[in-house]
Amino acid sequence: MTVLSFCHSSGFGSSLSGFIIYFITVYVHKLEPAQFKVVGPDHPVTAIVGEEIVLPCHLSPRMSAEKMEMTWFRSQISPFVHHYSDGKDQYGLQMPEFQGRTELLKDGLLNGSVALRILSIRPSDEGQYHCLVLDGIFYEEALLDLKVAGLGSVPLISVERHQDGGIWVVCQSADWYPEAEVLWRDLSGRHLPSFSETTSQGENSLFETETALIVTELSNQKLSCCIRNTVLNQEKESAVYIAGQSPSKPHTELIQFRVMGPGHPVTAVVGETIVLPCHLSPRMSAENMEVRWFRSDFLSFVHLYQHGKDQYRNQMPDYRGRTELLKAGITDGNVSLQILNIRHSDEGQYNCFVQDGSFYEEALLELKIAALGSNPLISVESHQDGGIRVVCQSAGWYPEPKVLWRDPSGQELPSLSEAKSLGDSGLFETENSIIIKERSNQNLSCWVRNTFLNQEKESTVYIAGQLPAKPARLNHLNQKQNKT
Ligand SMILES: *[C@@H]1O[C@H](CO)[C@@H](O)[C@H](O)[C@H]1NC(C)=O
Ligand SMILES: *[C@@H]1O[C@H](CO)[C@@H](O)[C@H](O)[C@H]1NC(C)=O
Ligand SMILES: *[C@@H]1O[C@H](CO)[C@@H](O)[C@H](O)[C@H]1NC(C)=O
Repeated sequence: MTVLSFCHSSGFGSSLSGFIIYFITVYVHKLEPAQFKVVGPDHPVTAIVGEEIVLPCHLSPRMSAEKMEMTWFRSQISPFVHHYSDGKDQYGLQMPEFQGRTELLKDGLLNGSVALRILSIRPSDEGQYHCLVLDGIFYEEALLDLKVAGLGSVPLISVERHQDGGIWVVCQSADWYPEAEVLWRDLSGRHLPSFSETTSQGENSLFETETALIVTELSNQKLSCCIRNTVLNQEKESAVYIAGQSPSKPHTELIQFRVMGPGHPVTAVVGETIVLPCHLSPRMSAENMEVRWFRSDFLSFVHLYQHGKDQYRNQMPDYRGRTELLKAGITDGNVSLQILNIRHSDEGQYNCFVQDGSFYEEALLELKIAALGSNPLISVESHQDGGIRVVCQSAGWYPEPKVLWRDPSGQELPSLSEAKSLGDSGLFETENSIIIKERSNQNLSCWVRNTFLNQEKESTVYIAGQLPAKPARLNHLNQKQNKT
């Protein structure tokens, strides 16, 4: 136990070397289990370049850490990011890049918090941090992941020169981290493909981007350049209005292909698989083109095929693992998308966007969702208004189904009440009631129909005309499911 006396000796230099020897010893022969745990956040912490961040870390159970020794370090324990021992911050063997930028938050020590503040965050601060706490012969540590993000400058748009029969417009912005996404849009919010894009990393490790677009002369249009940090989910945007010039040049646009959707809404059934059809016209290979299926947001797509591969970064989380671009027909211009396990929330518009170089076209497609619900459940409830009240319930329909009571000849019977509600899953539940005469001795059917799918479900009961002593559920005489 000579090692222990080292740990408690005064004077920083000896304390630290003792600490290192001790640390190795403990790691090799784990002497004692710790009496506390050290807990960091269970998710990465995101810091903004130039701002400060607090890296949380605390003892569990909560106990005073005032008399303990703690080290924040990265890959090696020495030099460290920050060290605290003998009730003081110790800077002797600190990593030079953290000099003057760290502070252990002492206010929290009494309740076990050993959080570290880092000032003036830099891109190089990104990565893992260890929060190590020692108390006598006990030690514990937690690992923490720090992500760094930089929100760059407002984009600067400049209208540069005539080139290739158009006007060359450039958008520049600096100080992004990590690399930002750049997007040109027109007045209606439609994405415009850029002609060139360059990104470079400056000395401060932050990214600069420059992207150019060629707009047709005579275009009279408003353009905006939008730059987005996908870590922060924040963007900066600038717009410019370009007035048409040189009316002597004819306005020509080369149509290389068109993108064709089905021309009518596509209907999918909840839980099943659907193919959203889309193809190029005239037929040509789309193998080396970009195919982007998206809903309202171009950047967070439903599916992206680019550089000959499916790309999943920035895919909408809702569609993760459920989409596939069917490659069998891609050389023939068929860029249909398959979606598995359809959900109610998949309903709505889809864009099938195909880009080849600076040329692009898109088609809009409407997806409708339908669900066929459960067999209706009929229950005989109580006497009411001189008759017997019978209730029919069914769930899992979309859209709202039509519900009818019918006699064996198919004649509609008037309902007493009708209720429809949307359940948690986004599907409709129905409950209809009817009063039938006592002693009616009749077969009664409850019929629920999805008019969208043209499919229905029906249940029938035989009512003997006398109510059992207690309200009870009757078994179905028969259940039918018809397709028409
Ligand atoms: C511990 O102290 C810190 C700093 O004063 C405070 O932010 C934190 O909420 C405290 N935690 C508990 C559990 O009391
Ligand atoms: C495109 O491919 C899909 C899936 O293989 C197929 O169902 C569809 O008929 C094809 N469409 C055309 C126009 O070839
Ligand atoms: C009710 O339906 C059952 C089964 O279809 C049939 O056997 C029975 O005769 C019907 N009863 C009446 C009163 O219509």
